This record gives sequence, C-alpha cells and structure tokens, in this order.
Amino acid sequence: MTIHIGAAKDDIAETVLMPGDPYRAKWAAETFLKDAKLVNEVRGMLGYTGSWNGHPVTIQGSGMGMPSLSIYANELIRDFGAKTLIRIGSCGGMQDRVKVRDVILAMTASTLNSPSSGIFRELNFAPCADWGLLQAAAQAAAKRNAATHIGGIYSSDVFYDERPDLNEQMVRHGILGVEMEAAELYTLAARHGCRALAVLTVSDHLGTGEALPSDQRERSFGDMVEIALEAAFS
Ligand code: HPA
Repeated sequence: MTIHIGAAKDDIAETVLMPGDPYRAKWAAETFLKDAKLVNEVRGMLGYTGSWNGHPVTIQGSGMGMPSLSIYANELIRDFGAKTLIRIGSCGGMQDRVKVRDVILAMTASTLNSPSSGIFRELNFAPCADWGLLQAAAQAAAKRNAATHIGGIYSSDVFYDERPDLNEQMVRHGILGVEMEAAELYTLAARHGCRALAVLTVSDHLGTGEALPSDQRERSFGDMVEIALEAAFS
C-alpha cells in the first residue's frame, strides 16, 4: 500500500496498462481481462488486476498530465515492482495524414518541461519508447489492419494551448500528435530500468478541429488496448 495506491503488493502485476481516465481503466479491465478485480480506488483513480491469455495484468488510471502520471508510475515501479508500463490514451493529431481514430505508437516524446526537468538541468534528455515493445506493437497493429503511425509525439503541460507558434514548429518537425503524459513515463522507465510505450488513439485533430464523438470512441480504443496487451506479451 502506498500513499496513492491502496492495493496490497501482490495485487499489482508486473505489466501495467495506464489510461489517463480511471473509468477507461474500468472499461478496459471489464472488457479485456479475465477475473478483473478492483485493486485501487484511492481518490477515485481506479485500478484493476486480472489476466489476459493467462498473463497477470493491472490496468491503473494515471490521471491527466505528467505530474499525476508521475505519482502513479513512481509508486507502481518503486513500491509494487512494475516492469512494463504501457500508456493507453488519446491524443490530438498534428499531421494532415494523421486522421481521427488512427493509432499512434510514440517512438519519442518531446516536451517543454516535465516533472523530471529539474534533475536534468541543462540537459535535453530524449525520452524514447522501449524498442522491443514498439516493434511488437507495430506488428500487432499491422495484424489488426489498424491505421497506424509510428514516430515522435509531443507531451504538453496544457490542453488549452496558447502557443500556436510552437505547434507550428512541432508540425514542421514531423510530430504526429499531442498528449500530456508519455514523456514522463518514458523518462521514469529509463531511470528505473523498465519498459515503456505509449499506444494512442487520435481523438481529435488540431488542424481540422474534428473530434471523435464519445459514442464512437469505443472501437478505436479497443484496438489500442489489444495492441498494448499483445505487445506486452509477445
Ligand atoms: N492536446 C493535449 N492532449 C490531448 C489532446 C490535445 O489536443 N487530445 C487528446 N489529448
């Protein structure tokens, strides 16, 4: 048991999927895991453990933004022994070829700032995904015929962005999409010798303003969860 996760040590699996939304954790656990059991509800940040194809899996909400994710990922890694952490979440598309409902596998995650910026001082650390997980996720996505993009994303500290000039530079430099958590997850995984990946569904597009209505999100979110689970255990 930790400050933010009220589970017993054995209740958390070595493989953890982390959606931002705790209700998405509930949905994914009930939809994809066998014998899913609620293991955390401190602050309503729901976590479930069950099994997928015989493998123990925890699905724990991370909350929105890098400071929130940092709390859960730190406790999962340091206190519960998590070894593989896969963010499953939504992002805003940034390139024209990236469409709403597509899947993005984040090879790198650029930031202006992260909770780890303080320890790096003048160093611009380059947070990147675990290669084995990324390769396995690419194969799982191809098998499912999911429209998939692999490359750099931007982990922002703000949803309501006031820097259109910065977004322009991101687009110019090939950044596929924007979300708010992956860079810190990759950095913590690097620090603690864990594997991390972000598998994202494009829920809206910064260029076109298109947004996925909530009732249509389930199918593409389902693809994302299955890609993450297959990647974790291949
Ligand atoms: N910005 C930041 N995070 C996001 C977005 C966005 O447009 N869409 C989904 N997550």
